[in-house]
Amino acid sequence: MLIEWLKHTLIRCPAALKDAGVLYDLIALESRAHRLRRAWQPHHETCRHLITAWAEQTPGRDCAVILGSGLLLEIPLEVLTRTFRRVVLVDLFHMPSVRRAVRSFPGVELCETDLTGCLDRMAETAARGSLPDPQAVFPQAVEADLVISANCLSQLSLRPAVVAWHGGALIPDRIRQWEAQVIAAHLTALQALPGRVGLICDTARIGTHIRTGAVQERYDLVHGVALPAFAQAPLHWDWQVAPAGEDHRQIRYHHTMTGGLLASGG
Ligand SMILES: C[S@@+](CC[C@H](N)C(=O)[O-])C[C@H]1O[C@@H](n2cnc3c(N)ncnc32)[C@H](O)[C@@H]1O
Repeated sequence: MLIEWLKHTLIRCPAALKDAGVLYDLIALESRAHRLRRAWQPHHETCRHLITAWAEQTPGRDCAVILGSGLLLEIPLEVLTRTFRRVVLVDLFHMPSVRRAVRSFPGVELCETDLTGCLDRMAETAARGSLPDPQAVFPQAVEADLVISANCLSQLSLRPAVVAWHGGALIPDRIRQWEAQVIAAHLTALQALPGRVGLICDTARIGTHIRTGAVQERYDLVHGVALPAFAQAPLHWDWQVAPAGEDHRQIRYHHTMTGGLLASGG
């Protein structure tokens, strides 16, 4: 906890992102990824294999855009920089570890953008009792040969929803409905892109009792939104996101994952 607190204090990050909890989330992801590296390794390898295959199958070699690049845990950056002249990494904020990691790779551009286009307007609109229309802001994606939505779909609305929750006179059902609209807007915009589009996302969080094997919790991470059509049958796998002892003493949590190239990609 002390290390996380120190990082939160020392890392230079726009105040609005700190206040919204974005830096907190990334620091927590960094700590969790380190602590659970063995449990998460199969998931990371699956993502990296998928992205490597998509990069190799993409005819154009100019530009790849990674939406939700995070800590590059799931991203085979070396393969991407070898394959494409430019690789644009898009996230709300790039941690110092990411900035250091990309230094040795040519052609990498870091872009800090809110993919929903809503975060900076949430507090103001929620205070008035409404919510902004979700957008999909995809920097440089229209010209890209390959765009990958890299396991960010279910996270897009999280921090905006918290801001809305604390700041406004909004009922939870309205916020959940809005979260579904954010997810739908992201998927619709992905489908409209002219290049190849790969989608990696989690769709459900499932908690299983370690002794009885009974499912104790099930949470729909995409709020009932259907995934778009894939070019071929997508891959499905489980991400062992929290072994027992991490979030609950006797319940282990996994996320059900889907990864595939969208049908509408060129
Ligand atoms: C599960 S992590 C993905 C991890 C990442 N693909 C990796 O390889 O490390 C989800 C990522 O989505 C990013 N994210 C969440 N909401 C976002 C938004 N509105 N705009 C841009 N990025 C967002 C988070 O900052 C986080 O890095």
